[in-house]
Amino acid sequence: MDTLTIVGCQFGDEGKGKIIDYLSCNYDLSVRFNGGENAGHTVVTDGNTIKYHLVPAGFLRARTSVIANGVVINLRKLNEEIDFLSRFRGSFELKISNLAHIVTDLHIERDRYLESLRGKGSIGTTLRGIGPAYESKFGRYGIRLEDFKDPKVLEEKLGFLSYIYNIPKKQGMVEDLIHYYEKISTFITDTSEYLREEIDEGSSALFETAQGTFIDVEFGTYPFVTSSHTITGGVTVGTGLSPKYFGKFLGVAKAYTTRVGEGYFPTEIEGEDAERLRKLGNEYGATTGRPRRIGYLDIPMLRRSVKLNSLDYIALTKTDVLGRFKNIKVGVSYIKDGSELKEYDPNKRVDKVEYVSFEPWEDNRSNLNKFIEFIEDEIGVPVALLGSGEKREDIEKRHLI
Ligand code: GDP
Ligand code: IMO
Ligand code: MG
Repeated sequence: MDTLTIVGCQFGDEGKGKIIDYLSCNYDLSVRFNGGENAGHTVVTDGNTIKYHLVPAGFLRARTSVIANGVVINLRKLNEEIDFLSRFRGSFELKISNLAHIVTDLHIERDRYLESLRGKGSIGTTLRGIGPAYESKFGRYGIRLEDFKDPKVLEEKLGFLSYIYNIPKKQGMVEDLIHYYEKISTFITDTSEYLREEIDEGSSALFETAQGTFIDVEFGTYPFVTSSHTITGGVTVGTGLSPKYFGKFLGVAKAYTTRVGEGYFPTEIEGEDAERLRKLGNEYGATTGRPRRIGYLDIPMLRRSVKLNSLDYIALTKTDVLGRFKNIKVGVSYIKDGSELKEYDPNKRVDKVEYVSFEPWEDNRSNLNKFIEFIEDEIGVPVALLGSGEKREDIEKRHLI
C-alpha cells in the first residue's frame, strides 16, 4: 500500500501546499480530509501563484483529487475555486464526499457573532463559518451534500439552523445553494468506498490536512484552535478509511514559527526582528491577508509534533528566508518552576525559553548543514525535504520518502 499523510507541525501555514504539490506527481490520488476554506495552501509554478482553499493541493499533478467527508464546504467558494483551477488544468477528475457538510451564510454570520461575544477573548478566526459548521455537524443539525437529494429536506434543515441561530434566512438562499450544488453534483460520490477500492486495487494516495498540529481542536492551544482534527489521527475518520491504510507520515515545519490569530506561542518575538522576518518571509495570511505573528523555531514543539503524529520525516521550508536573517535562534527547551522541559505542552505556560544561536547561511552552505543536523539530532527524524524558495523546483530532496 502506497499512502503518505502530510500534516503541519506548528500552527498552520508551514508551506504544506508547496510540499504537497511537489510530491503529488508520484501519487494517483490527492486527498484533503479536514477543515474548510479557512485553509490557504500556496503553490508557485510556471509564473503562477495558486492558492488552494478546499481542493487538495495535488490537483494539478495527481490523477484524481478527492475532497473527503471530513471537509466542510462552502459551495459558492468551491465553485469559484474549481472555475479558477480549470484554467490551469482543463481536464481533471474530482470526487467530493456525499457526507461532507456545507458551510452556509448562516454559519458565517454565527462565526462573526460568536467572535463579537467573546470580545477581548476572541479567537481570531478566519470568519469563514468553520467553527459553526463543525458545531452543527456534531450537534446533529448540520447540512450534508446528501441532503440536497431532496430540496424539501434541505429547506427544512436550513429553517432549523436559522431558528437555532435566530438569524433569518435571506431570500433566495435555498435556490442559490441548489444552484451551486447542481454545478458540482457530478463530482459527488461515496468517497470512502471510492478510496478503499482504488487503494485496494493498487492506486497510491497522498493525504493532506489543512492547518497545523497545535491548532487541532483536541491537542492544540484550546480554545485558540480550529474546529477539526489536524493531526495524522484525523485522517481515518476524515476519509472513512480504517487505520490499516496509513503507515507513512510526513510533517511540514517552517524554519521559524508563525501563527495567525490568538493563542499561546512560547518562542514569539516582537519588535524590529519580528517585522524584519515577517517582511523577508512575506508572512501575511494566504486566506485573510492578516500579518502573521512571528517567532523562532521551537524544537520542543517539533518533538511533540513528531510523537503526536508518529512522523517518519519532516520537510523543512523557508530555510532561504531564515538564512538571510541576521539573528538566527532556535528554542531548544523551556524552564518552568526551575525545571527544564523538553516538550511543548499547549496547556502549560513556561517561564523561559532556552535558545541556541546559529550563523546565517545565505553565503555559507555549511552553516545551513549545521542547522539541519542540529534539528535532526534534537527531534530524532530526518529532514527529508528542504524548501529553499517559493517555487515548485526550490526543493532539495535529502532522503527517500
Ligand atoms: P500552507 O498553508 O502550509 O500551505 O502554507 P501557506 O501557503 O499558507 O504559506 C506558506 C508561504 O510560504 C507561501 O507563500 C509559500 O509560497 C511560501 N513558501 C513555501 N515554502 C517556501 C520556501 O521554502 N521558501 C520560501 N521563500 N517560500 C516558501
Ligand atoms: P492552513 O491550512 C493558519 C487559525 C485562525 C484562528 C484559528 C481558528 O493554511 O495552514 P477558524 O477560522 O479555523 O475557526 O480559526 O485557526 N487557522 C489557521 N491558521 N493556517 C491555517 O490553515 C488556518 N486555518 C485556521 O487564524 O486562529
Ligand atoms: Mg496557509
